[in-house]
Amino acid sequence: MNSTHDELSRYLELTLKSKAFWENACEYLPGGDSRNSIYWRPYPIFIESAKGAVVTDLDGYERLDFINTMTTMILGHGFQPVIDGVTRQLDAGVGYNAPNIYQVELARRLCERIPSCELLRFTNSGTEATLNAIRAARAFTGRTAFAKVEGGYHGTHDSVSVSVRVDVSKAGSANAPHALAASEGLPSEILDQVVVLPFNDTEVALAILEEHHSDLAAVIVEPVMGSVGMVPASHEFLSMLRGFTQEHDIVLIFDEVISYRVSIGGCQSYYGITPDMTALGKIIGGGFPVGAFGGRRDIMELYDPRIGPRVAHAGTFNGNPVSMLAGVITLDNLTPKVYQELEILGHELRSQIQNICIDMEVPVQVTGIGSLFGIHFADHGIHNYRDIANCNNELRDRVFLGLMNEGILVAPNLVGALSTETKLEEIRVFSETFRKVLSRNI
Ligand SMILES: Cc1ncc(COP(=O)(O)O)c(C=O)c1O
Repeated sequence: MNSTHDELSRYLELTLKSKAFWENACEYLPGGDSRNSIYWRPYPIFIESAKGAVVTDLDGYERLDFINTMTTMILGHGFQPVIDGVTRQLDAGVGYNAPNIYQVELARRLCERIPSCELLRFTNSGTEATLNAIRAARAFTGRTAFAKVEGGYHGTHDSVSVSVRVDVSKAGSANAPHALAASEGLPSEILDQVVVLPFNDTEVALAILEEHHSDLAAVIVEPVMGSVGMVPASHEFLSMLRGFTQEHDIVLIFDEVISYRVSIGGCQSYYGITPDMTALGKIIGGGFPVGAFGGRRDIMELYDPRIGPRVAHAGTFNGNPVSMLAGVITLDNLTPKVYQELEILGHELRSQIQNICIDMEVPVQVTGIGSLFGIHFADHGIHNYRDIANCNNELRDRVFLGLMNEGILVAPNLVGALSTETKLEEIRVFSETFRKVLSRNI
């Protein structure tokens, strides 16, 4: 086999029921789903069930899950203590018009673990978490503009829908990236409020920031750029951002919706750099809908109804007892030892992929830290969005479909995240499969 067409033919053979369901789904849902991030060509599979490290699609085909619901299921699928706890809670009520104890328990655990979080609030998604962190920063500083890095993904609200997946040919020079709308339908003023920085280019980013320092309410950054390919920030870059924001009373926001996976205190503990605000999501709800934003007491107090509130915040399902209890049980099972084991396994997987590509003389860069990984077919280093935009994406697409055909699920851009159920044996299977798929596609 040596072409996209062959991987594609095999995919079509294996996924007949998914195809039929997807075609029917398109009658009711634009593109057949409600998440564009999990669409791939020719159509995505429909998953019927998941347990441990294995997901089973409608055609009954089993795959090892190496993406875990875009990094969420850190304890694998159907983790029994979460299932038991949530089942009990369903009997006790799904939601109330009053606070519940599990919200407090989850907030306490997060505040104890994450250095920047003195106070914290829950939302239903990471999108709402970054929306609130930016709104809080604007209210606190009285300024409206904020800076984000090119390629950085912080959810789908208007403010952050700028310079996400940009066409580099339209985005200006790397030293002065333009702010480009990531979606139609945004008010044009949005673009004037966003200063775009190159990730990991400390000198250039600082020069841009200095130029705009008096307008900025916040700088928001993912310590590991997730959706573009698990690209970690350099320590130098984050520490420049910390120094600059401190000097100018600008709120530094770490978006740890994905990177909270990296250590028990998040990436901020891993790097030893504490932001003013942190946005969270994914793993902290044990697989149920969730988000959270937390930070300095003097900023978070803007939300306190006893003294205002100066910043509005509501949401029918915020802090619902099901997501909160699932989060509490998940965090209680995420001990320092578990993080350490995940990190060792992540390192093992990254090295094996690297070695296979060296063996086969395929240029590759394997990125990621902790349990996160990204595979990029390129002979140049991967430090920012423009490096990613410049990879061999044809090979990437063939390898993605090939892995699907051979029973491995990752994200279409070959990004993945381990769970405690993807152990050494699963990593061995991944590596063997990767070698087989790569060899028939180069
Ligand atoms: C870094 C980052 N921030 C924010 C979000 C948005 O989270 P949600 O999909 O829960 O709205 C995501 C989602 O993938 C993310 O990766």
